Amino acid sequence: MAKAKSYFFCGECGYQSSTWLGKCPECGKWNTFSEEVVQAVKSGSSVAKSRVGIGVSKPKPIKEVVASETLRIPTGCGEFDRVLGGGIVPGSLILLGGEPGIGKSTLLLQTALNIPDRRILYVSGEESEQQIKMRADRLGGNGNGNENQNEDTYIVSETVTQRIFEHIEAVKPDILVVDSIQTISTENVDSSAGSISQIRECTTEFQRFAKENAVPVLLVGHITKDGNLAGPKVMEHIVDCVLQFEGDRNYGYRLLRSLKNRFGSTAEIGIFEMQGDGLREVANPSEFLLSQRDENLSGCAVAATLEGVRPMFIEVQSLVSSAVYGTPQRNANGFDFRRLSMLLAVLEKRCGFKLGAKDVFLNIAGGIRVNDPAIDLAVVCSVLSSNVDIPISPRYCFAAEMGLSGEVRPVSRVEHRIAEADRLGFEKIFVSKYNMRGINKKRFGLEIVEVSVIEEVFRALFA
Ligand code: TYD
Ligand code: MG
Repeated sequence: MAKAKSYFFCGECGYQSSTWLGKCPECGKWNTFSEEVVQAVKSGSSVAKSRVGIGVSKPKPIKEVVASETLRIPTGCGEFDRVLGGGIVPGSLILLGGEPGIGKSTLLLQTALNIPDRRILYVSGEESEQQIKMRADRLGGNGNGNENQNEDTYIVSETVTQRIFEHIEAVKPDILVVDSIQTISTENVDSSAGSISQIRECTTEFQRFAKENAVPVLLVGHITKDGNLAGPKVMEHIVDCVLQFEGDRNYGYRLLRSLKNRFGSTAEIGIFEMQGDGLREVANPSEFLLSQRDENLSGCAVAATLEGVRPMFIEVQSLVSSAVYGTPQRNANGFDFRRLSMLLAVLEKRCGFKLGAKDVFLNIAGGIRVNDPAIDLAVVCSVLSSNVDIPISPRYCFAAEMGLSGEVRPVSRVEHRIAEADRLGFEKIFVSKYNMRGINKKRFGLEIVEVSVIEEVFRALFA
């Protein structure tokens, strides 16, 4: 056996160093290094050559490689397929992240039970076989019907990759599910499960297995407090798809987003509702987004924003009233206060509203904080709506930045936003005229209102 050595790893990007460093030379983050004991295994040893390489790779002319859409495995769940880009691609490695208790295990077990005519091996490092069975029985109670459940679903409770590959040889599954990568360890690395070097090595082993045998592997990954996938970013580079399952636990709905997808668009989202007997697909998402608001409330506007690459629709609420005290009050919750002051100054100058003598309160619903400048137009419209006391239809949304002279400016990834608005069932989206060059509007079912100055928006909404 090789000598155990200890290394320091960056928790952000997985950079390896023999000494502790304050700042990572790779990603530039501070104070991210932690020590891990690593038992190096010589590449020629029997363990390293373990059961991972069942198939043998050989270079082929690209013409001979068969790539056909029909090869995708449909999951039997429309929303899941949509996010994956039309089904699971054989040999792909899919990472499903999400907060604890959001429903990752439920989603994958339900999928494992509903995929038709495939043999599935569901490996859990978190739950015992009895617990998985209890959950499966619970999931069987709904429309899926117990009798329709896939009888070719195998479950095993196991945490060591070498054992898992033994089970794989015995079962020969068409799809492998591993719940979760943080609980799995490999004998090739001598640090505890969940450490950076373990996660990296296990992910690589599963990737090798997936690619060599054309068996898709679905991995569950945990999420840290600040919303990142736990473990190094390198894991996100290794896998083909990174899916994120999220939602507010106070509401029943869950969103499945794709942060990275080598075989499909990341603009798609899947929507589910958590019920007593599992997850139900939500075909018409406006059910929960739009029904929460009355038609005739002034001061509300929906913004089509992006969080990183993820489209997110949020409601901006404003209250404009005559100032009771000499100096008007301004308050912004979840929005940059100085930017609000700037937008109000633009309105004063451009639209002639005497907002200087008004109190203005602004709130982003749901306690979310956004930095996306595309929210500007929704902020302006909600302020105007409250000021004139005329409601904006909850089926309209806005995605544009405001300039200092009152011009409506283009934003990034406008197609993403429009596609999402279309999917969420909005009727109209207001965007900058300069944003629509080279974009095929016929592709979308909703009306795209192109504006160039704030007066146009005002006339369209309130005149
Ligand atoms: P779970 O899939 O265990 O979450 P994760 O694997 O992401 O940690 O989901 C747990 C939650 O889902 C739990 O709080 C109970 C709820 N739940 C239902 O409401 N209905 C169900 O049918 C199931 C299986 C779970
Ligand atoms: Mg779980």
